[in-house]
Amino acid sequence: MIVTEVLIFFIVIFVAKHFWVHRRFYYLAHKIPQSSFDYSLRGIYQILTADGKKLFHIANEAFNGNEVCTKAWIGPYLFVGVVKPEDVKKVLNSKDCLDKPFVIKFANILKGSLFGDLNYWHSHRKLLNPYFGAKNLLNIIPIFNAKVKILMENFKKLEGKGDFNVFYSMTALTLETILKVMDYDVDIQNQKSEVKNAFIENLEKFLEIITIRIFQPWLHLNCIFNCTKMSRQQDKVLTDSGVVFTKDVINNAKNLLEQEDNNNEKSKSFIQALVNPKYNFSDEEIHDEISTVMLAAQDTSAIASSTALMLLGMHKDVQQKVVDELHEIFGNTLDAPYLDFEKISELHYLEMVINETMRLVPVVPYILRINSKDIEISEGYILPANTFITVPILRIHRSKKIWGEDADHFRPERFDKENFEKIPSYAYIPFAKGPRMCIGWRYAMLLMKIQLANILLRYEVDSDMKLEDVNFQLHITMNSAQGYNISIKERMVD
Ligand code: HEM
Repeated sequence: MIVTEVLIFFIVIFVAKHFWVHRRFYYLAHKIPQSSFDYSLRGIYQILTADGKKLFHIANEAFNGNEVCTKAWIGPYLFVGVVKPEDVKKVLNSKDCLDKPFVIKFANILKGSLFGDLNYWHSHRKLLNPYFGAKNLLNIIPIFNAKVKILMENFKKLEGKGDFNVFYSMTALTLETILKVMDYDVDIQNQKSEVKNAFIENLEKFLEIITIRIFQPWLHLNCIFNCTKMSRQQDKVLTDSGVVFTKDVINNAKNLLEQEDNNNEKSKSFIQALVNPKYNFSDEEIHDEISTVMLAAQDTSAIASSTALMLLGMHKDVQQKVVDELHEIFGNTLDAPYLDFEKISELHYLEMVINETMRLVPVVPYILRINSKDIEISEGYILPANTFITVPILRIHRSKKIWGEDADHFRPERFDKENFEKIPSYAYIPFAKGPRMCIGWRYAMLLMKIQLANILLRYEVDSDMKLEDVNFQLHITMNSAQGYNISIKERMVD
């Protein structure tokens, strides 16, 4: 009895001290509008049992309140969704908001530039930046063209065979491409579908586990998480999936470096820079960086191009406009020629289609940051230091106030120069913006344009799916739980 009373006494003292020490934090948090997040036992039960599909709806609800900002407590953590483009600009460019909350670092198995701490991020980002710049990407365009040609060969087997989930083909292409960019040649696109599917399913499981951990605060503690089935699943998927490639990628890059003896020259690819002894990275660091880039590059690009094809299959009028543009540039042909940078830059309408795809279905629907100092946003709201600032990209991209009453519709024309000039600059942020903007945005755009131009020249794409019926799930990225079902038929040309 006495022991219980003493225990309660100390707990009360501990809690009171915590609130006293952090009184400013709680005072400022109190002023931020509360979301409609359901804190009842029912709500907690829903989170407890949620999978990626339910989490997608829970997250949307959580930040769908006030026009400036909305808070949601997840355990002891204050999440605040910031929705006004001018506030998003402030957050994404503030040197006090560069870090990511620890919840996003659950993938600390892969520190890399996406998940590592700020010092780590800064030095790696500086090293990698030039390799993803416009000039260097010119050397990568031949790889994109060659890999897309393999995709086109494989599409011949799918033609006229009815619906298929194009995501599998896209993932195989994006994975094979990023590995080749890292000087590692492996044939993934031509492998049996079971091998490809297993890799994709592993990756999706890994991303789902990270997402579930964010929403279940007790799983933030490694000591609890490590006792769960999810932890064992995570170990398994990491062993079975892309991480398997990384050892071979590193060894291959080291061999190449030795053969070329170019230690003192500027490295040709970012993998050669990473393994170059002059930078002194450990194998573990290189492994983390490679896995991070693979993770960031592969799922995202595959989702975006699959979504674009699905939407084009649903909107034949838009598809026809893309084809008209392609015929204007390449003539009435079924086979796209080699697409160099100049040709790719002429594909204006196709670019508008890709932009509209990523507006309507942003691959990364939420960005998380943590602020090291208080930051003031519109209407005098102050986000206290250590807030998990959330940028709900999906809500911003679908805002009727910004995009008009048809914000939920697929209309690429909103991205023509005249219309887009009227949109606030931080209202369209599929790749984020600011110093932590996606390093691979140019890479992704070039690859998507080459893929889509090749596919659409040769094939008429059809999809029976309707956007309003697509069941999206949150796996860090936003993807369709039903897959991306399309059918293809060879186009008739005069
Ligand atoms: C359609 C395709 C893609 C989309 C929509 C996308 C989106 C994003 C977004 C929104 C972020 C910021 C995440 C955050 O701040 O939490 C990000 C970061 C990043 N992306 Fe991408 N990405 C794509 C493709 C790629 C590709 C192809 C690569 C590499 C080849 C890549 C590499 C990275 C890396 C390394 C980061 C971390 C940057 C940093 O923190 O400094 N991404 N991406």
